[in-house]
Amino acid sequence: MSEQEQYVVEAELNRSRTRRKFLQYLAASPAIASLGGVAAFMGEVVGRSQGQAAGGSQSRHDLPLSQVLPTSVHYPLPWEFPDVGRTYTNVITDPAQALDVFDFEEPMYLKLSRSFPGHWAFFQSGCFSEGTLHADRAGFQHVFLRPRRLMSGVSGVPGGVSTKFTIFGDTYDAPIFTCPTSDERSIWMPDGELSVSRACKTRNTMQMLSWGCSESPEDCSAALGRPVVMQIYAPAVYSNTQIALKRLEVMGVKTIALTVDAAAPRNPETGNWVDQNIDTSGCLQCHTARRDHREMAGYPGIRDLGAEWQAAAPNPGFMGKGFNTSRDLPRSPLDWNYVDRMRQDWKGEFGIKGILTREDAALCIQHGIDFVYVSNHGGREPETDMSTIQVLPEIVDEVKGRVPIFIDSGFRRGTDVFKALALGATAVGVGHPMLWGLGAFGEPGVAKVLEILQYELMVTMGNVQTATLADINKNDVEVDWNSPLPITY
Ligand SMILES: Cc1cc2nc3c(=O)[nH]c(=O)nc-3n(C[C@H](O)[C@H](O)[C@H](O)COP(=O)(O)O)c2cc1C
Repeated sequence: MSEQEQYVVEAELNRSRTRRKFLQYLAASPAIASLGGVAAFMGEVVGRSQGQAAGGSQSRHDLPLSQVLPTSVHYPLPWEFPDVGRTYTNVITDPAQALDVFDFEEPMYLKLSRSFPGHWAFFQSGCFSEGTLHADRAGFQHVFLRPRRLMSGVSGVPGGVSTKFTIFGDTYDAPIFTCPTSDERSIWMPDGELSVSRACKTRNTMQMLSWGCSESPEDCSAALGRPVVMQIYAPAVYSNTQIALKRLEVMGVKTIALTVDAAAPRNPETGNWVDQNIDTSGCLQCHTARRDHREMAGYPGIRDLGAEWQAAAPNPGFMGKGFNTSRDLPRSPLDWNYVDRMRQDWKGEFGIKGILTREDAALCIQHGIDFVYVSNHGGREPETDMSTIQVLPEIVDEVKGRVPIFIDSGFRRGTDVFKALALGATAVGVGHPMLWGLGAFGEPGVAKVLEILQYELMVTMGNVQTATLADINKNDVEVDWNSPLPITY
């Protein structure tokens, strides 16, 4: 069998495994059973979706939630790990009821999934068979805390512990920031990025805004009360990058992060399968603010999101404003030369997001980068990666304290954050938890998610007896990557 044939067979096997997994979960779900089983569920959703495509009069946007899904049911998903012992029976109706960030997942799911299961799958899934997504969570189970006792100066929580965090001249309440996630405004998250900005202001938290934002960086910075940290997807035409950098400089942005893990198309297989078989409604059902993905692409064909997105391309999005969209302009590949040009043109702090190896961390330093951002895009970029927590030590070893290290992917607990700090990270980003909070309750949901994570970090510091972030070090954890995983995994 040729290598190509082998690849095709493997891909097909993976696809059917993912489908089987998905169907097994559907079949096991009391929610689906109450609807008459998998076939009935799929028939209903596909039927609704097709009815709409055929010009049916009632849009599913108009359906009250109570008609779409009884709130008493739960439909667990295969690609997310419930926390240990969690049963998903008591759905919170107010952010104040939340005990941890997982509490926000189900209310968002209930709002979204029966109307737009494809959209939910897009949010929750990683890529291929979800290996990296799972590895990210499992990684934390191999890192154990080593709590000290009777340390002087740590007189209990909250008094004796401070999570205060200063970076690049700004001080925040904790070394936890919100990740850039595109298109935060949709019909089910109406205020999108602005809600995140306001919540970050309330919780004195760093907000990293996506290049694919659906609210302008200017408005978000105003709502945040300080300039956002801006994530960049490299435009193919470098002169457009210069336009964007100038604009960010004028609005007072001090820090940018270039995302480099999207150099090839993603393979969000579970999401694609749900789109293809269950929910054919497409992205534009939810998102009203569109942008030109072709322009943010590093290469032709990258992030090719299909005809409907291309048709919506005339709206260049917030970061594409003022760009020269002529297709004849020279295009620059996204490589270290591109980074060097950006380094010359950007005088502020400059990080690279998506670093996963010692080699690339070394190149970041060589190319004058101000911070290294370890990320696998929340399990959404390459498959069968190690978890980011497992990658972290080799990056720390390479960087040797010369620049700060940001990290994300799979962080859901204050203990997760503590473990990363102990292994040498400087700050930790959260994507999904922030989106669950936003999708479920808007601004108060995001604020509560941040409050919970900050609180959990503080409690962990109190238990391990580290009074400040500077006191946290690698002696506070024991790492055994070969330790067996708890039975719940
Ligand atoms: C729906 C969604 C959209 C995202 N959009 C972007 C983006 O526009 N730019 C980017 O650099 N990363 C993007 N990411 C990745 C996040 O910045 C971050 O790396 C990831 O969510 C962290 O993992 P976590 O969700 O497990 O916390 C996105 C992630 C999700 C889930």
